[in-house]
Amino acid sequence: MNDRLQGRAALVTGAGSGLGRSMAYRFAADGAAVMCADLNEESAMETAARIADLGGHSVAMPLDVTDSGAVKESLERTNDEFDGIDIIVNNAGIGGYHGWDATIDVNLSGVYYGLLHGAQMLADHGGGAIVNIASIAGLNALVTSGGRTTTALAETGELTPDRSAAYVASKHGVVGLTRQFAINFGQQGVRVNAICPGYIYTPMTAGMRERPGAEEMLQSLHPMGRLGQDDEVASAAAFLVSDDASFITGVALPVDGGYSAR
Ligand SMILES: NC(=O)c1ccc[n+]([C@@H]2O[C@H](COP(=O)([O-])OP(=O)(O)OC[C@H]3O[C@@H](n4cnc5c(N)ncnc54)[C@H](O)[C@@H]3O)[C@@H](O)[C@H]2O)c1
Repeated sequence: MNDRLQGRAALVTGAGSGLGRSMAYRFAADGAAVMCADLNEESAMETAARIADLGGHSVAMPLDVTDSGAVKESLERTNDEFDGIDIIVNNAGIGGYHGWDATIDVNLSGVYYGLLHGAQMLADHGGGAIVNIASIAGLNALVTSGGRTTTALAETGELTPDRSAAYVASKHGVVGLTRQFAINFGQQGVRVNAICPGYIYTPMTAGMRERPGAEEMLQSLHPMGRLGQDDEVASAAAFLVSDDASFITGVALPVDGGYSAR
């Protein structure tokens, strides 16, 4: 922890759980004021309360990122609440099988709205940094689903034609949006990067990890031989939004224990 985000204001979507909560904690520990936004307002309030307990500055609000107008309002509210806005993390997402429309709505359109409204707002305020949470599924197709390998699913006839398709498409889309907005806003002082986490211990992966043998199988896909911790993603995000990353934009940074190096 350090004070490199002192005086900055951040909006984190999906801040009520997992990676979003961990990034909110980390940004606050590094000195930022943090707006914790989540579909689940109660969980966002828990994150903000914990930050306040630790002496940080945080406010919570409900937000459905599939609502373009609501995303715009959340950015304006962050700006009003903290007298400025410097950092946006488009993190809210859903895993598992929710169908094409729901997955694209949350994971891709949700990020798009944050970029569409947020990048211009940061530019109007003299610059800032955006991090989008993509996935290793934004770089390559997935070879597992629900804690089983696609090979095993094929053998039992459970490999449906659309398995993981919406999730992988949404996350590839997030990487594409990251690159395009980085280019579009490069001259206006707004840096836009993506993080591509491997499998991380969060509530999102809890169900798949419960399946016998699943955790070992997932560990074996990461050359470091383990899954990641939420704070390992948070420290990468804190770096990318800080001035230490002042010449970094348009990257899709794997935080994956070597998963994507294979
Ligand atoms: N955990 C992993 O292994 C992993 C790996 C790669 C990428 N990711 C990505 O990281 C992000 C966070 O995942 P996580 O593991 O922390 O999951 P999580 O389920 O623990 O947390 C996701 C949060 O997003 C919120 N959310 C869901 N839909 C929303 C909506 N429409 N509007 C606002 N908030 C909404 C949920 O209420 C929840 O608090 C997601 O985009 C996910 O795809 C996770």
